[in-house]
Amino acid sequence: MSSTEGYTGDFPPGGGPDGGEAEASRAPHRVIGTPPPAEQRTLLGTSESDAPPAPPRELPADPDDLAGASRAEKIVAALFILAMLAGFGFIAAYIGLPLGASLDSVLRSNLALGISMGVAFMAMGVGAVIWVRRLMPDVELTEARKPLASPPEDREAFAETFREGAETSQFVKRPILRRSLIAATVPLLLAPLVLLRDLGPLPGTKLRHTVWRKGLRLVISDTGRPIRPADFGSPGGMITVIPEGYQTNDNALVKATAIIIKFEPGELKYPTNLKWTVDNIVAYSKICTHVGCPVALYEQTTHHILCPCHQSTFDATKGATVLFGPANRPLPQLPMGVDSEGYLVALSDFKVPVGPSFWERG
Ligand code: FES
Repeated sequence: MSSTEGYTGDFPPGGGPDGGEAEASRAPHRVIGTPPPAEQRTLLGTSESDAPPAPPRELPADPDDLAGASRAEKIVAALFILAMLAGFGFIAAYIGLPLGASLDSVLRSNLALGISMGVAFMAMGVGAVIWVRRLMPDVELTEARKPLASPPEDREAFAETFREGAETSQFVKRPILRRSLIAATVPLLLAPLVLLRDLGPLPGTKLRHTVWRKGLRLVISDTGRPIRPADFGSPGGMITVIPEGYQTNDNALVKATAIIIKFEPGELKYPTNLKWTVDNIVAYSKICTHVGCPVALYEQTTHHILCPCHQSTFDATKGATVLFGPANRPLPQLPMGVDSEGYLVALSDFKVPVGPSFWERG
C-alpha cells in the first residue's frame, strides 16, 4: 500500500501529498464559511424555469362522444356497485351459511359462494372492459425504438475490464493452471451427452407383453400355491396371483401380477369376457391403468376395485371398467381356464397391454 492509500485528510484544492493534480481533485477538501446554494434541481430534472416546453399532448383528454361516455360511465359505475354488493354477499354467505353435517349444507354454501364470487368478478370485468372501450381514447401510438447497442466508450471500458481481469486472474500467465482447469471441465461438459444414453434403446413391443402364456398356472403370490376353483369357499375377497415359476422375478412380476375374484352366479356382466372366467372367477391385471400402482383394495359389497394412489375405481363385475378417477381404461382381463389337474391356468397373455395407458401408444 502506498503512503496515501486510505487517506481522508484535508488538502487544499489543486495539491496533494505527491503534488499530482488528479490526486488532488479526488481528495476531499474543507469548506470554510457558508457553502454556496446548491444548484436548483427537481427530482426529475432541471427546475421549471430551465425546463424545455412540454411536448404537445398525444392522447385526447376526452372521448369524441361525450354523451355516450356519460352513459358508459353510469353503466360502469352500476357494474362496480353490483360487484361490491356481490362481494358483500360472498362474505354474508360465508358467515350465514355454515357447513353442517349434511351434504346439502355444503352444496348450498358452495353454490352461494360460487355465485356471489362469480358475479363480483364478472361485473368488475365487464365494467373494466366498457370503461376501456367507451371512455378511453382509441388511438394508436408509436414510439421510436432507441438503439440497443452500448456506446463505444462503454464497450471499450468493458473490454478493458475483461483484459484486466484476465491478467489479474493469472489465467494467461500460468499455463499449468489454465490447462488443468480446461481438462477438469471437459468431462463435465461431456456428462450430459453420456446421460442421453438412458433415452434408449426404445422398448419396442416389449411393454405390450407379460410372461403369461397358455397353460401357465396362477399361484398365490405369498405362498406360491396353485389354485383350484373349489379352493374358493364362497364368493367375495380378492386374491393376488402371479405366474408359477416367476416368484422371484421382479421384472416379470411388475407387469404380470394379477388379481382373481369370485362372484355369485349371474353377477358378472358385459363387458366381462365370460369365456375367460372359471366358475364365476375372473382375473384382472393388478397394475392400475393410470400410472401403474397396484390396485390393492376390493369392496365386497359394491364390487369396486380401488387404486390407493389416486382413487381410480373399477367395477369388477363389468370387466373392471373405470367408475371414477384418473385411469381411463379398464384393468385388462386375463384369459383363464383350468388344466388337466383342475388348477387355474392362463389361456394366453393379456390381450391388451397392462399398466399405464401410454404404453398402448409406445
Ligand atoms: S395409479 Fe391408480 S389411480 Fe393413479
